[in-house]
Amino acid sequence: MVKPGDFPKDFIWGASTASYQIEGAHDEDGRALSIWDAFCREPGRIDNGDTGDVACDHYHRYREDVGLMRQLGLDAYRFSFSWSRVLPEGKGQPNEAGLDFYDRLTDSLLENGIAPWACLYHWDLPLALHEAGKGWTSREIAPLFADYATLMADRLGDRITHWATFNEPNVFAMFGYKMGIHAPGIRDYDLYRDMVHGVNLAHGAAIQALRDSLPAGAKLGVVPNMQPCLPRHDTDPDHLAAARLDAWWNRAFADPMILGKYDPIVSAALGDRIRPGDEKLINQKLDWFGLNHYSPLYATADDGPAGYRWANPPEDSEITLMGWNASPEGFRDILIETAGKYGLPIFVTENGVADLAEPDTQGRVKDDLRIDFIDRYLAALLEARAAGADVRGYFVWSLLDNFEWAKGYTTRFGVTHVDFETLKRTPKDSFHWLAGLTGKQA
Ligand code: NOJ
Repeated sequence: MVKPGDFPKDFIWGASTASYQIEGAHDEDGRALSIWDAFCREPGRIDNGDTGDVACDHYHRYREDVGLMRQLGLDAYRFSFSWSRVLPEGKGQPNEAGLDFYDRLTDSLLENGIAPWACLYHWDLPLALHEAGKGWTSREIAPLFADYATLMADRLGDRITHWATFNEPNVFAMFGYKMGIHAPGIRDYDLYRDMVHGVNLAHGAAIQALRDSLPAGAKLGVVPNMQPCLPRHDTDPDHLAAARLDAWWNRAFADPMILGKYDPIVSAALGDRIRPGDEKLINQKLDWFGLNHYSPLYATADDGPAGYRWANPPEDSEITLMGWNASPEGFRDILIETAGKYGLPIFVTENGVADLAEPDTQGRVKDDLRIDFIDRYLAALLEARAAGADVRGYFVWSLLDNFEWAKGYTTRFGVTHVDFETLKRTPKDSFHWLAGLTGKQA
């Protein structure tokens, strides 16, 4: 098993969450609805008809949650802002009460010696913007996203050093606009292609805004989800399908953002959506790469316009509750590849596994599966470092069991168990194990 001494002294230990998945308080203190509030109200979208209305009630219990982080010995905590909490219309008049919440959270983290790492967007677009046709499919979103970035930077830039624009742009693009299984539930290849470019433009505009508003030492990044994309069968058509999935999944955002140029497969498909000067705007200097990773993806040939479709992992592989297969080697490989290709310091900003472990009669939550999974993935991270990849930190997904999007509360990713009836938090065995690893138990 990995040991504290295996990691460098300045390695960053963290945990990640997202606003809609944990905050709750969906209609309190002036928060307006996001596309996820609306999506959850559409029958059949979410398992059990679950919603993020209450979630972990972190909005009211954030002090207790910061206490858990302290107990875990975390150096850093990555969270996201709810855009419609601070700008109910997505633009215009800010909501002071919403901004106050992020002030309180930030101050509480700093008082406990935990560095806040803020993400501007983890999937909860203000519904008002979407309904007005000013969502990600529109080029008009870029200046609006930049204004929102400026608002947050002006308010919190004196205390928050690490900022990211987007969490997993590739995931909310593909799931939300191409496959229709996440908000806003769109299944349209044209709109998908519009929004890929819209998100990239918004990233460039927001990084410019953050650089203008934040103090000189601010560290700016983005958080793509990076997974090896593999052919499901060892055939030429499946190899081609895997290359296409790889282009859209791993490169449609990171390439233009960091290298200043779309991958040829993506640029051919985007066509004249890319106007002169766009790639220059998208390509702003970044300081770090946030890498989220769970498992390899499999592709097979398809006659549809994108030329690939997803396939299930091989039946004989180790498959977890989400239907994803565990592959520490895949994690090691993608870390090495990403480090080589983009040349930025990498922080693993999400990794973890879902299970259903519940407290036993003594109140103990035995989640050996999670300990084993994280241990093997950390060993792979160390291998990537030994091979020269500049990987500087690991943020577990997640601090708490939470609202897992289309799966609602039917699956649990936390190192802390949450009883969604009583909202009681119970640290799991993995929590105690991780606290031993950070070497800084409070
Ligand atoms: C990545 C996403 O960023 C996060 O919101 C989600 O809960 C985890 N993957 C697990 O699916």
